Order: sequence, then structure tokens, then C-alpha cells
Amino acid sequence: MPSIQDILETMEYGPAPEAAGEVMAWLTARGRFGHYINGAFTSPGEGFATANPASGTRLAEVTQGTAADVAAAVKAARAAQPGWARLSGHERAAWLYAIARHIQKRERFLAVLEVLDNGKPIRETRDIDVPLVARHFYHHAGWAELLEDEFPGAVPLGVCGQIIPWNFPLLMLAWKIAPALAAGNTVVLKPAEYTPLTALAFAEICAEIGLPKGVVNIVTGDGETGAALVAAEVDKIAFTGSTEVGRAIRKATAGSGKKLTLELGGKSPFVVFADADLDAAVEGVVDAIWFNQGQVCCAGSRILVHEPVAAAFEARLKARMAKLRLGDPLDKSTDIGAIVDGVQLQRIRDLVAEGQAQGAVLHQPDCQLPAQGNWFAPGFATNVQPANVLSEVEIFGPVATLATFRTPDEAVQLANNTRYGLAASIWSENVNLCLDVAAKVQAGVVWINGTNMFDAGAAFGGYRESGFGREGAREGLREYLAFPEPKARAEGAVPDFSAAPHPEVGGKAAPGIDRTAKMYIGGKQKRPDGGHCYAVVGARGAELGLAGLGSRKDIRNAVEAAQGAKGWGKATGHNRAQVIYYLAENLAAREAEFAARLAAAGVKDGKAEVAAAIRRAFWYAAQADKFDGAVHATKSAHVTLAMHEPFGVMGIACPNDAPLLGFLSLVLPAIAMGNRVVAVPAPSMPLAATDLYQVLDTSDVPGGVVNIVTGPRDDLARTLAEHDDVAALWYCGTAEGGAMVEAASAGNLKPTWVLPNRDWQGPAGQGRDFLHRATQVKTIWVPYGE
Ligand code: NAI
Repeated sequence: MPSIQDILETMEYGPAPEAAGEVMAWLTARGRFGHYINGAFTSPGEGFATANPASGTRLAEVTQGTAADVAAAVKAARAAQPGWARLSGHERAAWLYAIARHIQKRERFLAVLEVLDNGKPIRETRDIDVPLVARHFYHHAGWAELLEDEFPGAVPLGVCGQIIPWNFPLLMLAWKIAPALAAGNTVVLKPAEYTPLTALAFAEICAEIGLPKGVVNIVTGDGETGAALVAAEVDKIAFTGSTEVGRAIRKATAGSGKKLTLELGGKSPFVVFADADLDAAVEGVVDAIWFNQGQVCCAGSRILVHEPVAAAFEARLKARMAKLRLGDPLDKSTDIGAIVDGVQLQRIRDLVAEGQAQGAVLHQPDCQLPAQGNWFAPGFATNVQPANVLSEVEIFGPVATLATFRTPDEAVQLANNTRYGLAASIWSENVNLCLDVAAKVQAGVVWINGTNMFDAGAAFGGYRESGFGREGAREGLREYLAFPEPKARAEGAVPDFSAAPHPEVGGKAAPGIDRTAKMYIGGKQKRPDGGHCYAVVGARGAELGLAGLGSRKDIRNAVEAAQGAKGWGKATGHNRAQVIYYLAENLAAREAEFAARLAAAGVKDGKAEVAAAIRRAFWYAAQADKFDGAVHATKSAHVTLAMHEPFGVMGIACPNDAPLLGFLSLVLPAIAMGNRVVAVPAPSMPLAATDLYQVLDTSDVPGGVVNIVTGPRDDLARTLAEHDDVAALWYCGTAEGGAMVEAASAGNLKPTWVLPNRDWQGPAGQGRDFLHRATQVKTIWVPYGE
């Protein structure tokens, strides 16, 4: 035993393990777990063992959920849902409070159980995970209480299927279950196969407090069970996990009408400027990537350091790394625990070896790994080229990459050089620089001079291939509500494009008819690539003119033009409003002409349609500088901003109905929020939209902000869905077209909105929902003070 003098010299920590007796007794008493369905545990069936990653010791047996188990759970949830939704918000709030209180009562138990099942250090489960779980249920109890006031007219979705990963097992459960229940939904949740135990303990809490049966159901199992849940009769799938599985779920749910939110992988930049507090930034790396073994989807795993301080930063990082304590996760002074499973450990080893083979140099401390269990020493890699696997692929292990940059612009460029867009950390004492970079970085969450800050009152979720939808705060709750969509209205016959094509006549205009098929791309009238077109036929069978048969190339050109019009997103809301007001005025000046055009096309009351379009333009102009974000109340001494940002380039396929109003009802909210648009107008009467070119020109809409490609709607929509530079897509058309668009968008995982055709002149034709869907929320955390 070391003497006090020895200890004072070495400053070694003594062991400080948290007792696991109570949890072990609980596990021994249970032994084997069934599912939790309809308020009771089923008898355990065929299944698998879950083990302690730090020792390899078997903890319990859980049941592999079959499609029949999933169906039984969904049935129970379905039966319970109307009753749960009928409770007043106040009554549901009381249940959520009860859950939160019981979690607090069992805080220590749950923290230890999570450590045993996941391998992460007790400091994390005790100080971060479990308190946040309780906070989440309290926060959403509040939402249940306020639901009717804050979301008038909204209704629950029904039954939600929820699938979660192993990195934050209980916290992810809370992120999923709390908002679902607050909104009046019932749930079937599938925990990750490596870490099912805290979900089962949570089920016991539900039983203990007497939560109405069927409201919460837990089915354990692996990816097959997850796939069965995706295929089941649920109204929504909320998924957190790998991008690959997220993509498969996007395809599997396409056309099903199931609402979908995806929280996927990340490769988040951690940007350190020369004037940053370097010691704080080094501690940030500890929190971002080493603590929790790098098993955090938003981990700042790509460290980018300003060249002047790169050497100093690396030296401090190495010094700090050498002092990290790896070992028993139940020990309160452990920094780094075990890797969740042998499969994941092997994945980390393989990726690191591949990165080294591609030239990366790995730096790790000289630490002794325990003989039993799954361990990987913390580290970072230098000499990592942008194409190195370690720069590109999510490692999900305690290994960061370290690279340098020279200028803030280069930092932004490197930060955005990824398919993902989950989070970013920015370190500088210069608030101007921090906020400038925060605005430019493509990420759903940005932490300034900090990392991994979470709160139920702040939205979390990704840009780009990190998924769509948000969890937490008002934005997260919206994902569990339906804002009843109007009854779908028939949209009229779409021309048969296969029979239609013929070459345009070019210059030879019949009296009163322009026979030159034009589209509008980059602020200019453009003929279709290839010169093919189709005749647009009016009410009495008369030909009204020719429209171009747009091709993939036309879409690509239009997207490129839209990409080039970046300034629109940076313009102030006021400036955009002025342009849209002007557009309204110019349309008003030509009201009679447009009304006559619509009447000729067979629109019953062309005059009313144009009048409604003008009003709509005024409404969205007025919203352009008002539909803004929020400052959320989260932790003290933090400003947590929820910024509304445009997606960038949006694709819009318009209904074959209300050819002018339908087009403008979709294009106006998108551009009011700063997006640039590639729109496919009504297939049978696209001229109402292409006629707008003069209005757009005279209204000072910058070239490239609105691009109009005419032709076969579904073919063009498919090209838009498959295009990686199109960041979001709205489609109003047929059911088959909607399903196609959802499936085809799985490539870059763009959010899609398949909306039913409606009475465009009525209230359903306009509203804040359009603006919500035209924006994504970026949460920026700005701590201040000491
Ligand atoms: P995963 O995506 O395979 O698993 C996540 C959850 O989805 C688990 O509950 C799993 O059982 C379920 N699942 C798997 N296949 C499914 C399917 N076809 N349909 C429905 N559900 C399915 O992630 P995994 O294998 O645990 O980890 C692989 C990699 O994914 C990690 O190395 C990491 O890069 C990433 N990952 C990202 C997470 C995040 O929070 N963004 C969390 C966990 C993993």
C-alpha cells in the first residue's frame, strides 16, 4: 500500500468505484427478460446475452423480437392510443412528471446499469445522461400541459415506432419517448441490441407508476427486429443510428405515409483559432472525443487548428492525453471506459489500420489496456489527407484527426468538406469570428467555446446526410404532431408526354401564339436542351403554345444556376420582402392579362386565382423578415440560438391545378426564407408559370433564385430527388410520384414533403407550415461569463 508521502509525490488517484451490488442483484433476480408489451413483461423467448464491455461478463439474456412480437406491441399501442390522446394535456403532464420523478429516485441505479451495459464511465452516466433524461421528461411534461395553447389544432400522429442506438441508450429513449407521449402518441421502442437493459428498467418504471397499459412498449432485438418495426403498421418512425440504416429506412418507408425523422452519423469539425483559450480547447477535445470513447454521433472528431498555434496545441493535447485515465468505468475517476462491443472494437481497429496504411500517423499514450473486455487507447492522427478514410468515415471510437488551416475561409471550407452536418465546435475569443464561422458551417448544432452541450429546451439534429427532423424544444415536439392536412383534391389530367414530343417550331409564330418553347433558368429564358417540346392545350382543345420538354440536363443547369445565386440566402429578410412586394405589385399590374391566360387554359375563375396569387405574394413578403428563430431557455449563462436557415437549393414539383396559384404558393415561401428554387410547374398548363418571367425580371428577383423547368413532372422530380446539390424537395402530384420522390431522395437524405393537392385559394394554401418546411433550424450555443 503506498504511503501518504508516496501519494503526495505521484498524485496517483486511489480507486473510487461506484457500488454495483444493487444492480447486480436486480439482474440476477430477472436473469432473462421478455419484451414489455401492453403493460407487462412477456415470457422470455429465444434471444441473446448482453455483456459488460469492460469485463466481458454476461449480464442478462434478452429476447430477440420477432415480427409477431412487434405486431403485438403495435397492436397494444394502437389500442391504447385513443385513450391516451383523449386525456387532457394536464393529465398527460402528470404522467410525465411521475416518470421524471421516478427516474430521479432511481438515478444512481440507472447510472450504474448504463455503465455496466454500455461501458462508458460513471461520471458521464451520473452527471450527464441520467440528469438529462429526467430533464427531458420534465420539459415535455410542460409541453403536454401547454399543447393546446401552443399548437392549436394539432393532433397526435398515432403510434410511433422508435429505434435507438447504443451510445446514449437511456438518453436516446428519453429523447424519443418524452415528446411522443406529450403529444398524445403511444410508442413501440426498440433499444440497441448491445444496450437493452436501461430500456427494460424504464419499462419497470412505467409499470411501477401504473402508466396506462400499451402507452409504452419495449421490444428488444437486433436490426431485424428494427426492420420489422419499420414495416409495421405505425404512423411514424423515429430513428437514430448509422447513415446506412437511415438510408434503408428512408427507402422502406417511401410512399407509406409514415412520418420520418432521422438522426444519423456525423464527422463534426472542431475548429481552434489562434486566439482561442488553448487549454479550454484541449479540455474540449477530452469531452468531445475521448470521454465516452468517441462513441458520440456529434463528436468533434476532426480537429482543425490554426497554423500559428498548431504545434503548441498538439503538444498540449499530447500532454493531456498522457494523463487520461482509462479503466474500470464504474470508478469515479475514470475518463475513458470500454468500447460497447467486440464488433465495434474491431471496426475501430480496422478503420485506424486502414487510415495508417493511407499515411496517417497515430499518436496514443503509452497506457496499459486491461486484459479483459473491449478497449481502445485514446489517440489522434496527424498527416491525414482529406481523402484518408479517417477524415471521411465516422470512426465512433476515441480517435480524432488533427489538421491545420491558415485562414478562417479555409477553416470553413475544411469544416464543410464532409457529407455530414451534425455538429461543430468553434474556439476563439473573438465573438465576431465565432459567429461568422457558425453561420457558415453546415451543421445543425454549433457550440462556441464548448462542446457536447445538450438540453431538452434546445433542438438537436443534422443538416445534409446527418438526417432530418429535430429532437428537443418546440421543433422536436412538432415532429410528433400532425397539423391536419386538407383533404386531397383531384388535380386534373396530366398530358401524356410519351405521345406529346415534337420539335419546337422556333420563330414561326402563329398569330398571337409564341411557338418557341422556353424555360427560365438563371434569370434568362432558355430553350429546352434538345429542343423537344409539347403542345399546351387549352379549355376548348385549342393550342395555347409550346412548352419545353425539360431533360436531366435542363435540371442540372437549373440547379447550377440556383447554386450560383447564393447571395439570396444572405440578403436580409427585409431585402427579400422588398423584392417579393415588388413582385406582387408587378403581378397586380398585369392581373387582367394573367386572368385571361388562365381562363383560356380552362381555369374556372382565373380572376380569383390571380387575385389570390397577388395576396399570397404580399403575405409571404410580410413574413420574410418575421418568421424568425428563437433564443431558447437552456442552461444559465448560455445564449442558445435557434436560427432559421434556408436549405439552399430546393426542388419543387407543382400541382397540375391552379397553375399560377399552386406554383406561387410553393415557390414564394421557399424564396421568402432565402432558398433558391428549381420548380417544375403544372404539367398541363406550365405557361402560367413561364409567363411569369417578365414579372420576375422586372421585380428584381436575382437570376438563379427562381428557375422554371417545364416537362414531365415525375421524370424531372426524380432528377431533382437524385441530385446531391438539391437540399430539400417538395412534391405535389400523384401518390406514385410521391413514393418515387421519397425513395429517390435517399441518396443525400434530403428532407422531402409530399403534399396533397388542395384548394389553393382556401386557408390550406398558405401558412406558417410552409415556412417551417422551407427552413432548417441551426442551434448555436454561446456560453458567456466565467
Ligand atoms: P445501426 O444503425 O446499425 O444501429 C442503430 C439501431 O438500428 C439499432 O437499434 C439497430 O438494431 C437498428 N437497426 C439496424 N439495422 C436496422 C434495419 N435494417 N432497420 C431498422 N433498424 C435497424 O448502428 P450500429 O451498427 O449500432 O453502429 C454502426 C455505426 O453506426 C457506428 O459505428 C456509427 O458510425 C454509427 N452510429 C451512429 C449513431 C448516431 O447516434 N448517429 C449511433 C450508433 C451508431
